Amino acid sequence: MRKALLIIMGLVLVAAPAAAFHDGGVAHCNGCHTMHNSQDGVLVDPDSPNGNPWLLVDATPSDVCISCHTHVDDPVGSDPLAPPPLKGAGNFTYLLEDNLNDGYAGAANPIPGDAAGHNLVAPGHGLAADATHSTAPGGTFPASVMGCTSCHDPHGTQDFRFLYGAGRVVQGGVTTFTNPAPTAEGLSLFFGSESQSSHTAYQGGMSAWCGNCHGDFHNNNTQLVHPSGSTLGGSISTTYNLYNGTVDQSGGAQATAYLAEVPFEDAANTTSSTAGPSAASQVSCITCHRAHATSAPDAGRWDFSVTFLEEDGVESGSYAIPDPYNNPNQRSLCNKCHNKDAFDAITP
Ligand code: HEC
Ligand code: HEC
Ligand code: HEC
Ligand code: HEC
Ligand code: HEC
Ligand code: HEC
Repeated sequence: MRKALLIIMGLVLVAAPAAAFHDGGVAHCNGCHTMHNSQDGVLVDPDSPNGNPWLLVDATPSDVCISCHTHVDDPVGSDPLAPPPLKGAGNFTYLLEDNLNDGYAGAANPIPGDAAGHNLVAPGHGLAADATHSTAPGGTFPASVMGCTSCHDPHGTQDFRFLYGAGRVVQGGVTTFTNPAPTAEGLSLFFGSESQSSHTAYQGGMSAWCGNCHGDFHNNNTQLVHPSGSTLGGSISTTYNLYNGTVDQSGGAQATAYLAEVPFEDAANTTSSTAGPSAASQVSCITCHRAHATSAPDAGRWDFSVTFLEEDGVESGSYAIPDPYNNPNQRSLCNKCHNKDAFDAITP
């Protein structure tokens, strides 16, 4: 009951001139904090009758963010089969899925929603820490405290999406980031959604930023792993530019080759650019993953376990990630850079 009231308060705040709450920096303190856990004699945070350690208006940092962000745009939503508009990071709503497994016999072997991406400790919204990982694979960041403020500074920064940068102490000392925030430009939270000519402009630094928690997951000089934060080179960038789907493997052109589902980093990218990569553009974590969560295991931009994209959602009953080429013969989007569709029969 009181929770419903809080959410409505959030809505009212947000509905006021579509303007800014954070305003590019620290917002008014009372949007998130309560000094006495009391207003008009009523508990502001009924989940914590004795208050909570950060004097927040809800029990955990992520619960505070979600109370507004389900309405603003946004990343959370409540029905994993009817997700909110996509802006870049993907939606946490898929954490609520009961099965994401679209691979062979996926229906009988469910992969639960906590594999959809980063989990959030937000018990007030039915979300908990990851049941499989106890730390960030490749690093030491503990899954038990994962939430919005593990990545975003609640008090704002000048960087892309208020992300923490080099030297920033996160969540009262859980870790100190060593790599800077990525260089990028995002879409407005109030209008539109991702398309081939409206998307985050990834310009650089994302792989190193993810590495703040995931260690050297990207470093193929020290480990035999897929490169991230490395240049594409001439032949892979040419493949990307020519590839226009399984049924049109060499009909693409550099000016229109950009595929929002398989982005690369380049300083020349803008939120409306449609140009494909040059040899100097980089493959990045964000080429294959989204930062929040998706309707596929491992926050995949597409499901890594299906042969034809149209199989997505079939075994699991989860939301089917749209096929950008909208063709029943379309295979894995790894082909955008490594065309292994070549010489295959076209019929599924
Ligand atoms: C009182 C409502 C409210 C709360 C609470 C709230 N937000 Fe927001 N948030 C907004 C609104 C409105 C916007 C869009 C306008 C703006 O940027 O201020 C926004 C924008 C953002 C953006 C995008 C900023 C940009 O310009 O690119 C991020 C990231 C964000 N919020 C993170 C958070 C996090 C993390 C928390 C919890 C610590 C949080 N928000 C809590 C209302 C809220
Ligand atoms: C968008 C939500 C939000 C707003 C607005 C906000 N805070 Fe916070 N604040 C948090 C959260 C969440 C934490 C808990 C620590 C964390 O998760 O990083 C926190 C922690 C703190 C802390 C303790 C830890 C620290 O960083 O020192 C202080 C002090 C604080 N806030 C003061 C303020 C003041 C003063 C304002 C207004 C100028 C303010 N906050 C505005 C969300 C917010
Ligand atoms: C603040 C630390 C932190 C940052 C920054 C971070 N991660 Fe993670 N990541 C974690 C932790 C902790 C886990 C394991 C717990 C979980 O999934 O919530 C994880 C899990 C994952 C998983 C596996 C999800 C699953 O459930 O199997 C993927 C994929 C991933 N991260 C990718 C990324 C990418 C890509 C970036 C950069 C955009 C990134 N991470 C940035 C801490 C981080
Ligand atoms: C693992 C780190 C991580 C966590 C945890 C995280 N974010 Fe983000 N968030 C990002 C990154 C990175 C981006 C930019 C992604 C892009 O554009 O591809 C982003 C983008 C956003 C945006 C812009 C809209 C969009 O969908 O791209 C908002 C708003 C936002 N985050 C709010 C939140 C809120 C609220 C939470 C908690 C419920 C949260 N984030 C948790 C890393 C994180
Ligand atoms: C070329 C695509 C690609 C790139 C680039 C990529 N990943 Fe992955 N990632 C995958 C695939 C596919 C999986 C599924 C497991 C596997 O194949 O090893 C995965 C799995 C993961 C997992 C889950 C591991 C586990 O043990 O559950 C994490 C964490 C992760 N990636 C983080 C990252 C980070 C951080 C980066 C950048 C430094 C990155 N990935 C770059 C494709 C990619
Ligand atoms: C944005 C482009 C891009 C995408 C998408 C991409 N890769 Fe790669 N991949 C690269 C680059 C660049 C290299 C390094 C090639 C080199 O050093 O010659 C590489 C190397 C590899 C290698 C090592 C063998 C070799 O050719 O050196 C394998 C295997 C591989 N990728 C598989 C995959 C798979 C599987 C996926 C999909 C999950 C994928 N890649 C998606 C760009 C990409």
